[in-house]
Amino acid sequence: MPDQRVAWITGAGSGIGRALARRLAEAGWAVAASARTARDLDALAAEVPGRITAFLLDVTDEKACVATADAIEANLGPIDLAVFNAGSYFPTTAEDFSVANFRKTVDVNLMGEINCMGPVAPKMVGRRRGHIVLMASLTGYAGLPTAASYGATKAALISVAQAFKPDFERFGVDISVITPGFVKTPATDKNTFPMPFLISVDEAVDHILRGIDKKQFEISFPWQMSAAIRLLASLPNWAKFAITRRMLPRS
Ligand SMILES: NC(=O)c1ccc[n+]([C@@H]2O[C@H](COP(=O)([O-])OP(=O)(O)OC[C@H]3O[C@@H](n4cnc5c(N)ncnc54)[C@H](OP(=O)(O)O)[C@@H]3O)[C@@H](O)[C@H]2O)c1
Repeated sequence: MPDQRVAWITGAGSGIGRALARRLAEAGWAVAASARTARDLDALAAEVPGRITAFLLDVTDEKACVATADAIEANLGPIDLAVFNAGSYFPTTAEDFSVANFRKTVDVNLMGEINCMGPVAPKMVGRRRGHIVLMASLTGYAGLPTAASYGATKAALISVAQAFKPDFERFGVDISVITPGFVKTPATDKNTFPMPFLISVDEAVDHILRGIDKKQFEISFPWQMSAAIRLLASLPNWAKFAITRRMLPRS
């Protein structure tokens, strides 16, 4: 199918990535779905037969990301849309501070997206078309307790997207960044703290698909959480810490 649009979704084995891969496939896209767990990808591919191709990939392996991008283009055709969504939350506190936690979080969340962007960006620039979407988080706007490493990677991704947007658009390539609040997924099911304005994965994917369709730069939702975090970030430090102290885990 030469006119079929091709999307690559990383972290497509569960949660937001899985739901997004499925919805794009149902809308007629040829979807390359990657993650590390074969059974998740096989189950996803079986849900929309013939539309989803599984590519086993650990995004921390730079060479494997290059090989996967090449394999996707060889099998499905030029990538039109890349949503670099794979990520994990490894909580960290003063009591369990660990350099390893930071290294792991940076390797998966930040370098994982950059490793995948590495082979895709020059292909899109060469073709003068394409859309790269980075998955960040509203946590990237304000340092929140237990999210020192997670929030740092998401702040970095927002900065990467802001820096590249005007640069890549000179070459016909769109850059977007997704900044969700809390979305109900296997990842957030593990959280023990309150998650204000929690939304379903289907609602999250509705926002993401609308934003992708409009080539919106920042796809931020739900609006209540987006407004609350931006307000928190704009407060003077005394007021900000008065609020974030209340978010500390009880010891
Ligand atoms: N849920 C939320 O409230 C929320 C809010 C803001 C931002 N986000 C971001 O949205 C993204 C998806 O989150 P989610 O809640 O949908 O999480 P999830 O259900 O845990 O899904 C994460 C996906 O990423 C894959 N993954 C993890 N580490 C990987 C690695 N090293 N290489 C390749 N794939 C890897 C996982 O599969 P394997 O383990 O099989 O590889 C899984 O498919 C993340 O970047 C997260 O930070 C989520």
